[in-house]
Amino acid sequence: MSLSDSYWQGNFCVEISPVPNTIIIFGASGDLTFRKLMPALFNLFRRNLFHENSRVVGCARTVMKTEEYRNRLREKMVENVEDPAELDRFLSKVCYMHGGYQDQATYSNLEHLLEKLEKGQDPVPNRTFYLATPASLYGEIVPLLGRYGITEERNADGWRHVVLEKPFGHDVKSARALDMLLHETLSERQIYRIDHYLGKETVQNIMMLRFANVLFEPTWSNKYIDNVQITVAEDIGIGARAGYYEKAGLLRDMFQNHMLEMLALVAMEMPSSFDANSVRDEKLKLINSIRPFPIKHLSKYMIRGQYTADGDMKGYCEEDGVKPDSTTETFVAAKVMIDNWRWHGVPFYLRSGKRLKRKVSEIAIQFKKVPYSIFQPIAAKDMQPDVLVLTVQPDEGMSLGIQAKKPGPKLCMGNLTLDFKYNSIFGGQSHDAYERLLLDAMLGDQTLFIRSDVIAASWRLLTPVLEAWDSFDAHNLDCPCHLRKYKAGSWGPADAAAIPKSDGFKWRNL
Ligand SMILES: NC(=O)c1ccc[n+]([C@@H]2O[C@H](COP(=O)([O-])OP(=O)(O)OC[C@H]3O[C@@H](n4cnc5c(N)ncnc54)[C@H](OP(=O)(O)O)[C@@H]3O)[C@@H](O)[C@H]2O)c1
Repeated sequence: MSLSDSYWQGNFCVEISPVPNTIIIFGASGDLTFRKLMPALFNLFRRNLFHENSRVVGCARTVMKTEEYRNRLREKMVENVEDPAELDRFLSKVCYMHGGYQDQATYSNLEHLLEKLEKGQDPVPNRTFYLATPASLYGEIVPLLGRYGITEERNADGWRHVVLEKPFGHDVKSARALDMLLHETLSERQIYRIDHYLGKETVQNIMMLRFANVLFEPTWSNKYIDNVQITVAEDIGIGARAGYYEKAGLLRDMFQNHMLEMLALVAMEMPSSFDANSVRDEKLKLINSIRPFPIKHLSKYMIRGQYTADGDMKGYCEEDGVKPDSTTETFVAAKVMIDNWRWHGVPFYLRSGKRLKRKVSEIAIQFKKVPYSIFQPIAAKDMQPDVLVLTVQPDEGMSLGIQAKKPGPKLCMGNLTLDFKYNSIFGGQSHDAYERLLLDAMLGDQTLFIRSDVIAASWRLLTPVLEAWDSFDAHNLDCPCHLRKYKAGSWGPADAAAIPKSDGFKWRNL
């Protein structure tokens, strides 16, 4: 019996039958493809979740032949691979074509290549297009795919799905414009907007935890929960991503997608079933129930910060490609209120930042204290509240902190943490988020992908904040919404403490 068998009894796994797909990656010479997509596809291949008739076509402007592309992939991937011969078998299914994204010849060449690869196959492979390019190119690639009929679904052929990476616009208006442009070529059913946080085991486990157990759901409301804290902290700076980050900033980069998606999973009602649209209907309802941020008192609900140098860590404004007087925020702390019966009065505190003390992402559900203690002289106010922590990274898992009797004299009470880590049970077998999401895209399951109306709702919530920040002088310290500075390697601006403090709470120590 393996360690995982001793922990897990009962094994209800829905069988997965891989279906043939041609995966076409635009931006195939880039970081995402080399670091995430190809290793994820290889892992699916290793686990027999990559159909034997599936193929990968890499497409980018960099001129190289298929053999050179395979060599580059092999070089990058081989050190993490147990069996190099297996990697070679996977790479034999990968080919490369170069071409400009605006160049019409690229698309006619691509269609010829796809026809050649798919010729005579029964069933005809589905096509999954992955746009791993800067988002500014989506508006060029998708219409050209449409014009050449490459994404057109004809009856006898398989489906044509397009996977897109964030950002999905930068405010309400641009998101709507991007959406209209995509819908000129594709139906919503064909669009897979990826949020890699949703592919993480802990994030997927939120729904299992809530809706496959009777234990939690009855306590999952303002009756028993005091506050919820969602933290996504990174210890790294922006690295070489100044071009993107200067235009985005943290609110767009983290809140519009990952933070609100996690919040929605924690707070939404039970979907009528576990299918894509039922789940996304509930997320939409939840995001639409978030109280708009009061712009006149914005600093009581949301503050922004930017890291400054400390020791050998550069400040944001000294990073390569960043303007010396940049007002781009690298930290945001917020209080979110949800206007519905379940959550009335429960604050959800969200914080995320770059160059913080350590890398950690977690969702902490802080329960109320017991109303009265029979264990006198220990008073209820001195007893710790229960807390359920879902750790999203680095060690995916969960822990439940409860009060328990300590061995010893009659009245000895303390906090006991029941801890579970995916890695300690499954070892190296855990699945990368991209693996799960690529598999779902190839199987045609949109549950973990974001629907256009959910994106629109999150932009409707955040755009007024972005506009207000733009209208204030970020450097004017008299303005409550000014940009707070924090030292690289700290836990963010000191003023962030005021957000939970005004409700009598504090941020969890991480
Ligand atoms: N890297 C990550 O970990 C990560 C994580 C989350 C989301 N994303 C998103 O995923 C997408 C791809 O990320 P990435 O890091 O792989 O990007 P990248 O390396 O900057 O770009 C991917 C490829 O796109 C082409 N490209 C880059 N800039 C271009 C330009 N201005 N005009 C035309 N082509 C250009 C380049 O290929 P050629 O020059 O050969 O055509 C490049 O190899 C982006 O939308 C990014 O925001 C990335």
